[in-house]
Amino acid sequence: MKTFASDNTVPAHPLLLKSLEMENQAWASAYGADSKTVSIEKLFQKHFGSAAQAFPVFNGTGANVTAISSCMLPHEAVICPDTAHLQVDECGALEKFAGVKILALPTKDGKLCPEQIEPFLTYKGDPHRVQPRVISISQTTELGTVYSSQEVKALADFAHAHKMFLHVDGARFSNAVVSLNGSLKSLSADLGVDVLSFGGTKNGMLLGEAVVFFNQPQFAERFHFVRKQAMQLASKMRYLSCQFEAYLEKEIWKTNALHANEMAQRLYKGVSNLEAIPVLYPVQANAIFVRLSPPLVERLQKDFYFYVVDPKGPIARWMTSWNTTPTDVDQFVAAIASS
Ligand SMILES: Cc1ncc(COP(=O)(O)O)c(C=O)c1O
Repeated sequence: MKTFASDNTVPAHPLLLKSLEMENQAWASAYGADSKTVSIEKLFQKHFGSAAQAFPVFNGTGANVTAISSCMLPHEAVICPDTAHLQVDECGALEKFAGVKILALPTKDGKLCPEQIEPFLTYKGDPHRVQPRVISISQTTELGTVYSSQEVKALADFAHAHKMFLHVDGARFSNAVVSLNGSLKSLSADLGVDVLSFGGTKNGMLLGEAVVFFNQPQFAERFHFVRKQAMQLASKMRYLSCQFEAYLEKEIWKTNALHANEMAQRLYKGVSNLEAIPVLYPVQANAIFVRLSPPLVERLQKDFYFYVVDPKGPIARWMTSWNTTPTDVDQFVAAIASS
């Protein structure tokens, strides 16, 4: 059954599966010493700029944990929105792995701004207090919103002015890039992002994410060891790397994200004039949050699966993907309208 639950529920893109099949023809060195992994280092630089150093990992939690903990010491803190996947949905992985504290701040739309972080600088140097070191934002956010370039740059500039670093959880970075009509580089390296968790899985890869450092060779150096300790060093890394090669070279990241976002807009247009379905946040990528009545949830879920993210409300998240078709959306809208 096709669902609107998550972009994790959809199949892998055929061209990415094809890249695996092609990679599967021969033997190769292990642990990233293979020619495919070596060649994608340059490819990431082509797309993200010459300062980029990229490392494939298995999953999004692993990308976030390894990216952030490479930049921090145990007495330091990472500041993020209280909706961040890092805070809500990673089972305390960062705290366990790195021993650092997460300071999670409320937001109205999933987005942090420098003014919220400022008060935490009061205690810089106080040994009784954890020391803020990393700001972590999600682009797109967990609420389906997208930071503008100016908003990201303001956070990066603020971080650097206070000897901090900006991490971007980009599990859906491609969706943000197409939403802003930018490029991978213009929305990361050019804005001062220090480290990006670059998503593949939700946007068509079988599995795989990459941690990309920008102008941070000392963290990239440390990352080699952190990744192994975090059990994210793939012995057959070439099977992650070959997918990234196709993802970047064939612009699958872009076509898939564009399609997913277009399907979200189609769904939004279909429901935005229905009074019974208030849409809670701007629809800027591939997620729509709506408040539904409990009977409506029950009726719709007979035929369509989606997450109720807050039973109070209830609030539902509808998510589209590279594999959602216009017909899927139209059928869903018709069911909503007639319920
Ligand atoms: C914004 C965001 N970051 C990170 C992740 C973590 O990905 P994984 O489930 O592969 O660990 C997710 C997964 O849903 C996510 O939505």
